[in-house]
Formats: sequence, structure tokens, C-alpha cells
Amino acid sequence: MTFVLEARDLSKTYGDVNAVDRVSLIVEAGALFGLLGPNGSGKTTMIKMLTGQTRPSGGLATVLGVDVTRDPVGVRRLVGIIPEQETPPSFLTAAEYLEFVGAVRNIPDIETKADWWFDFLDFADKRNVLCKDLSRGTRQKLMFTQAFLHEPALALIDEPLINFDPIMQEVVKDYLAGYVKSGRTIFLSTHILEVAEEICSSFAILHKGTLLYTGPVAELTARGDHLPSFFLSLVRKDRNG
Ligand SMILES: Nc1ncnc2c1ncn2[C@@H]1O[C@H](COP(=O)(O)OP(=O)(O)OP(=O)(O)O)[C@@H](O)[C@H]1O
Ligand SMILES: [Mg+2]
Repeated sequence: MTFVLEARDLSKTYGDVNAVDRVSLIVEAGALFGLLGPNGSGKTTMIKMLTGQTRPSGGLATVLGVDVTRDPVGVRRLVGIIPEQETPPSFLTAAEYLEFVGAVRNIPDIETKADWWFDFLDFADKRNVLCKDLSRGTRQKLMFTQAFLHEPALALIDEPLINFDPIMQEVVKDYLAGYVKSGRTIFLSTHILEVAEEICSSFAILHKGTLLYTGPVAELTARGDHLPSFFLSLVRKDRNG
């Protein structure tokens, strides 16, 4: 079995807040892994640590064979990232932004690839519009595109569906499900539990920085359980001590 991501006792404290508290996780190649948890449970902090954007306070994490603490730049070079609530630079057009990402990531034939994405996510008419003048969902289309433009072996994506309309959510969901079929891996944080149940192969539930559960979705459904109700009962039980 090949692991593309392994966290061991991974922790992050901000002052006296234990944002992530000794979380251990393993993600196999080809997984569509869902990271679930209530607001403030540590999902974004996990993704930031796993992508070298913030230094863990303790523990270890290896992503695509790279130690995230020792070589955060190396990790960022390999993976695709959709950060939480970030937008592309206001002063570039959509096309310029993708050209910029192509240059940074050394992507050959970037114009053809950008064209494919403009068509695929249905925003070709916005290619020459400044990012500051794009709608929120269109900016999210750009953020989604930049994460997958170099077809990374692993993409870590924080709430990628949140600003998309129902049609675009379907398009993106199908894309993610197809992406992992070729052995590439996705690590996704989401609040949309129905989507997680539909497309994720395995998942983890965080609550107040600690890992409550991790396992395959199929195991849950095989015993007649559903992810949304399982999530709610587990988190409520933990909340009530
Ligand atoms: N830069 C920071 N400085 C101080 N505290 C932070 C910082 N980033 C996150 N935290 C705290 O860490 C905890 C986990 O936050 P995080 O953003 O990881 O949660 P989340 O699961 O992504 O939540 P949401 O579902 O709302 O996006 C929260 O208590 C938050 O206030
Ligand atoms: Mg978050």
C-alpha cells in the first residue's frame, strides 16, 4: 500500500489554543479523502501544515515523501492547493493569472491548458476581466483551476465547492471523482457531508483539534449508516462529553 500523506501526532497551538492536537492520519494513493469537522475544528490548520504554509508545533507529517517541516517549499512545489477563502490577485486578468501560475510552476503549453479550463468551467468570456471585477464564484473557478493546472499527484483543497452554483458543484464533483481514478489523490475539507458521502473513499472527523474518527466511507454505508447522521451523532456526543 502506498501512502501519499502521513501525519503522526501532528499539532499546532496558537497561544493557548490547541488548533490541532496530536492528529495521526494516513492517506493512500488514489484516495479521495474528506476532512470533516465543525467550524474551528482545525481543518484549515491541518491543510496549512500539510502544505508547508504554517509550521507544526509538534509531530511529523510527510507529504509525497517530503517532510513538511524540513522542506515546506518542496511540498508546495509538488502539491496543488486551494487555500480557504483566498482570491486571485486583483490586478491581473483571469488569463494573466493562469499565465503567472504556469510560469511559476513551469507548465508547458499553458495557453492551451488555460483554454481547456476556461471552457470546462464555463468562464471563457471572463478571461480578459481583471480578477477584482470577477464574481465570487468565478474567482473560485480560477482558484480551482490553478490547483489542478499542473495535474499534481496530490491536491489539498479547502472548501472548494462553497461558492459554486449547483451546476458547477456537479461539474467539480465529477472532476474530483474522475481525478483520483488515475491513481492521483485528493485531500478535501468540506462541510457538505452529502458530497463527502457521495465522492469520498475515506474520511476523518475532527472536533476541537482532535481526531474523532477515520475510516473508509464504504465501511459506514455497509452497516447502513450515513455520513451526515454519523457525523452529527459523533460530534454531539463529543460535545456533551
Ligand atoms: N492564525 C491564527 N491565529 C490564532 N488562532 C488561529 C489561527 N488560525 C486558526 N486559529 C484557531 O485555530 C482553531 C482552528 O481553526 P481552523 O481555521 O483550522 O478551523 P476550521 O476547521 O478550518 O474551521 P472552519 O470550518 O470554520 O473553516 C480555531 O480555534 C481558530 O480560531
Ligand atoms: Mg477552515
